[in-house]
Order: sequence, then structure tokens, then C-alpha cells
Amino acid sequence: MIYFDNSATTKMAPEALETYSQVVTKIWGNPSSLHKLGDRAHGLLEASRKQVADLLGVNTDEIFFTSGGTESNNTAIKGTAWAKREFGKHIITSSVEHASVANTFTELENLGFRVTRLPVDKEGRVNPEDLKAALDKDTTLVSIMGVNNEIGTIQPIKEISEILEDYPNVHFHVDNVQALGKGIWDQVFTPRVDMMSFSSHKFHGPRGIGILYKRRGRMLMPLCEGGGQERGLRSGTENLAAIAAMAKATRLLLTDEKEKADREYAIKEKISKYLAGKPGIHIFSPLKADFAPHILCFALEGIRGETLVHTLEDQDIYISTTSACASKKADEASTLVAMKTPDAIATSAVRLSFDESNTLEEADEFIAAFDKIYQHFAKINHLGE
Ligand SMILES: Cc1ncc(COP(=O)(O)O)c(C=O)c1O
Repeated sequence: MIYFDNSATTKMAPEALETYSQVVTKIWGNPSSLHKLGDRAHGLLEASRKQVADLLGVNTDEIFFTSGGTESNNTAIKGTAWAKREFGKHIITSSVEHASVANTFTELENLGFRVTRLPVDKEGRVNPEDLKAALDKDTTLVSIMGVNNEIGTIQPIKEISEILEDYPNVHFHVDNVQALGKGIWDQVFTPRVDMMSFSSHKFHGPRGIGILYKRRGRMLMPLCEGGGQERGLRSGTENLAAIAAMAKATRLLLTDEKEKADREYAIKEKISKYLAGKPGIHIFSPLKADFAPHILCFALEGIRGETLVHTLEDQDIYISTTSACASKKADEASTLVAMKTPDAIATSAVRLSFDESNTLEEADEFIAAFDKIYQHFAKINHLGE
């Protein structure tokens, strides 16, 4: 089997699974309980928080555990919009965000907030000058992703941070679900970033657990009221086993980060070089430093993305379409559509996403399998003649 769909989800690391099962069987008390079982659980909860904070280089009280990327994004965005609604009702995002950001903005728009969606260029990148022009005295929030999940564009978080220095009251949220552990931290995090979202199942941790980083002093309104866990921001009994396993997965992810990211890039490079220049092929994820090392999106014009996915699946090779061609819910927020890619090409796009366990041999096998499909297709379509 070749699994090139790591941006959709990853296989849980055996070490994280071991932590999960140890905690679930041995440290199963409720961290809020007053007795010693509760104390032990509380101790592990706070140790996990500290481990994650240290690994991310932030303060322990800036880490909040959530159910994943979607909840972290919703909490950051709605939490800001509601908490600051007396000060202004203008919120800004990009036109290439994940649905958990894009649809949250739409919901707020329907509730009376004014939304600016920044356009993107041919590489799916926002122009910081457009942000500058959009900011006004009513703006309370800017939410821009670090790495695009469909094509891997790294957004200009540094330049945006510089612009926002002049707007100290505006909350700046970065969806970094696809960015952690890819050797690009200095491009997607600055001290001006107020909030960040992360999701454990994207880096070999369990499903249904994630992180919201929230800088000290930034106020959010919680989505859920209840027992006041997570310092009132996220009520509900903590999923301790998943939290501890995620902390373990974070440590593993960030060990030898650069070397692992380089290996992923080498796979991207090998497949890209094979694809480059072939008639009918369009590559959306160039080999450039402002693109993530682990995502390669391309289209073979004339074959729908899902057809390619299923044809490769028959050979035990697993890749994805992008949301543009996930015809089940063709989504106007799609990155390729926002880049004004013609429909015929956008619906042919597929995404390959690598992790550190993938190898160059797998890249060769992928190339061999794809090449057969390509040659057949090229022949019947008289490509390159
Ligand atoms: C950029 C981005 N943000 C948010 C999410 C949602 O994360 P989760 O699956 O943990 O809710 C994803 C998942 O694909 C993503 O790629």
C-alpha cells in the first residue's frame, strides 16, 4: 500500500497509541475530581499542556485543548466576533480557507457581521496590500491560514503580522492545521499571531483532539458553557488519554523536524520533476520555499480527479481529490476556484500529501503506476502530437 493522503489524516503512531491505552486504563479519573485519582489525572493534564507549550515555544497558560482543528477554528473566530462585537463587526479572512473557517465566516455574515474575503493570486496567496486596504476601525479579527490544505501555499504571515502591528486591538488567527512539523514554523508563526489551530490526527495523534493557542490577554467568548474546564474557554470533561497521546505525537513530530520535512520535499520533488512539462498536466504546488514540502496538487486535464483517485486505489495507492472536484459537495471556497482556475482543470485536480514514513521508492512506484494511466490517456487523446 502507498498512502499519499496524509493531509486528510495520518496513521496513529504506535507510541501515541501506547500512551492512549496506558492513560485510559490507568489514569482514568476526572481531572476535576477532588480525590487522588482526580489529582493524578489533573497532574497529567497539566504536564501534557506544559509539554505542548514547551514544544511550541509558548506559555503553558496559552494552550487550550479542543476536539480538533474545526473546533479550534470556530472558537477563535466566533469567540472573537462575539467577545468584541461592541467594538466592531468587521471580520477579515481569505478566499482559500478550510471549510471550518470559511463556513464560520459565512455563518457570522448571516448573523450581521461584515465579512471581507481577500482574493488570492495564481499561487493561491493573499496580497498583504489587500489586507491593508481592507482594515478599518470596525475590524476585530483577521483569520488567514498558514498552509493551504489543497495546494500547500504558505501565506505571508510575517508581512500580515507587520501590518497588524498598527492595529493592536485586532485579533489575528492562523489556522496552522497543515503547517505544524513541516520545517516552516518561522514562516507561519510570529509574536503578533494571537491564536492558532492544530489538529492531532494530522500528525499521528488520535482523532477528535486538537489545540487552540491563544495569546495571553486576548479575550474570547466560549462556544460551550458548562463546568468551566480549560479556564472557562472549553467546558466539558477533558479527553485526557487523547490529550496525553497528542502531546506524545507532538514531541515525535517535532523531533528531527527539518530532516523529515526534507525527505517529504524530496518525494514531492521527484514526482514533480516527472510530471513537469507533460502535455495535459498542470501543477499547482511549485517547488518553492513559499509552498509546503508535503503537498503536491496537480491535474491531468480531461480525467476527473475522482476517476484518478479510484484508478490508483485499484492499485493500492491512496491519494485525494481537492474540494474543487469533490463533487459530493462542490464548494465555492475551493482554492483552485478562488485562483480562477478554469473548471475543466479544477475538476481534474488531485492532491498527494506525504509524511515522514513515505519513501522515494514509493515515489517511483507512484510514477510507474501513474505513467501507465498517463500514456494510455495521452495516446487516446493524441497529446503531445
Ligand atoms: C487547514 C485545515 N484546517 C482545519 C481542518 C479541520 O481539522 P479537524 O479535522 O481536526 O477538524 C483541516 C482538516 O482537513 C485542515 O486541513
